[in-house]
Amino acid sequence: MLEDNAADAELIAHTLREGGIPSSNRRVETKPDYVRELEAGPPDMILSDYELPAFDGYKALAIAQKKCPEVPFIFVTGTLGEEVAIETLKHGATDYVIKTRLSRLVPSVQRALREAQERAERKRAEEGLRKSHEQLRALSVYLQYVREEEQTRIAREVHDELGQALTGLKLDLSRLSGQLPKHLKPQIERMDLMSTRIDTTIQTVRRIASELRPGMLDDLGLVAALEWQANEFQTRTGIACEVTTMLEELLLDQDLNTAFFRIFQETLTNVIRHAAATRVEVLLRKEAGALVMEIRDNGRGISEAQISNTKSTGLRGMRERAAALGGEVDIHGWPGKGTTVTVGIPLRPARKSAKRIHEDSHRRRPRDGA
Ligand SMILES: Nc1ncnc2c1ncn2[C@@H]1O[C@H](COP(=O)(O)OP(=O)(O)OP(=O)(O)O)[C@@H](O)[C@H]1O
Ligand SMILES: [Mg+2]
Repeated sequence: MLEDNAADAELIAHTLREGGIPSSNRRVETKPDYVRELEAGPPDMILSDYELPAFDGYKALAIAQKKCPEVPFIFVTGTLGEEVAIETLKHGATDYVIKTRLSRLVPSVQRALREAQERAERKRAEEGLRKSHEQLRALSVYLQYVREEEQTRIAREVHDELGQALTGLKLDLSRLSGQLPKHLKPQIERMDLMSTRIDTTIQTVRRIASELRPGMLDDLGLVAALEWQANEFQTRTGIACEVTTMLEELLLDQDLNTAFFRIFQETLTNVIRHAAATRVEVLLRKEAGALVMEIRDNGRGISEAQISNTKSTGLRGMRERAAALGGEVDIHGWPGKGTTVTVGIPLRPARKSAKRIHEDSHRRRPRDGA
């Protein structure tokens, strides 16, 4: 309570007691005392006179707004012109009560307390929501990481184990057919056919492994992998697809490569399914410390509604991937002219990898079961 008149202060306290509001107060008169009280711990409410011999209610309000904006501030004062009253409300005062009409004090205090409580609850709810959003995002990063790891492992196994077994089989077969007497022509021919079939199976195994995770993404870098994927796409769909880049270095950051590559794949899938395009152009460049990929098709053009539709899982997945690395995805459509998807992710050498995020969240999480 900022009040120079002890009798007034007693009257105010009495009014609150009578009104059924259990309260205790500390009365101060000067700025240093006022500031010290606020700093010692914010009160539930500030009741302040407007005109004080040693201080000024208006300044007291400004200080309270800075130090504890959530604490209700009510002027309890002798006279307060209409204009001044409105001015104080504009500057954050909760209410004002004229001392000659103290009957208004109790309802005013009750309302202020109720509103403060509601504000606090809303803030708590928002905080909870924000936390759960954060957890969901971490979970989605984690799931993508696990999936990528799994695919890499399967790709490697399929490629190495099956590939080797098939190559061994092919060698055995050709050795065997070389040992057969020349007059067993039908059998030899049959064996040649088997050998050709093994070749195509090896090709299939390679293709499956590459589709799971192109090894070149880790060995030859992002540009090579994008070019390979563009080629595959063009061969498979007949839609021309060209990758242009000025980048000279290999770019071997695994997380970054994975994000760009998967977003590229998702975008190409969308082109096949929705665009009715005949041409796709891909541009990869560095821009202000970020790697930027622009994928442009000449199809029917995505609409604003489709871009902002929250049910667009494909688009959302792309955005999540980029966001997990501090980047973003921009999508634009021109009706009848095409769609452009632009992905930008900062190139930070010290960026925390998905593996690190995964390991950190694992360390924090209590182990469940084995
Ligand atoms: N290149 C494009 N040209 C035109 N429309 C597109 C293009 N890409 C996406 N769209 C539109 O945006 C919508 C949302 O795309 P999104 O990838 O999120 O979903 P989807 O491809 O329909 O399903 P999925 O979740 O399996 O990817 C698509 O349904 C399509 O209507
Ligand atoms: Mg899609």
